Amino acid sequence: MAYGDGDTSYQTAGEQAGVRALVDAFYDAMETLPEARTIRDMHPQDLTESRDKLARFLCGWLGGPKLFSEKYGPIRIPVAHRHLAIGPAERDAWLLCMQVAAEQQPWPDDFKQYLLEQLYVPAERSRNRSD
Ligand code: HEM
Repeated sequence: MAYGDGDTSYQTAGEQAGVRALVDAFYDAMETLPEARTIRDMHPQDLTESRDKLARFLCGWLGGPKLFSEKYGPIRIPVAHRHLAIGPAERDAWLLCMQVAAEQQPWPDDFKQYLLEQLYVPAERSRNRSD
């Protein structure tokens, strides 16, 4: 089975616990990387719910259970971000946090690379300005 088939990606990530570990490392990176200062400041002070939302979303996005809609209802990624000023710099800062977080996971290198390539798609769809 290739990544992207069925729930292969979700299984490779380590199911819900693996996805939550990724998201924790992602927000930890966002809190420390200077490049991520602008996007950190877009978030609430307390990141507890942000962590829960992103982790639940990614479980479904990776082919696992639809945990986001179960708790928070339907979501469309571009619409969820339209109140935020996201240009290429903000998109790239978000992806940098994901790259740093993925590097810390006990995953095969080809899965880390696959994940980063796939995440570019919703990150680019969240962009709503060109500078
Ligand atoms: C491109 C750069 C991105 C930036 C700067 C960004 C920033 C944010 C911010 C500030 C919030 C609000 C957080 C909160 O109120 O707790 C948010 C919500 C969210 N983001 Fe992003 N995000 C980006 C990309 C993405 C991507 C690529 C995904 C999914 C793969 C994603 C998934 C989510 C989800 C699921 C929510 C919760 C939406 C809701 O409250 O209904 N984001 N994002």
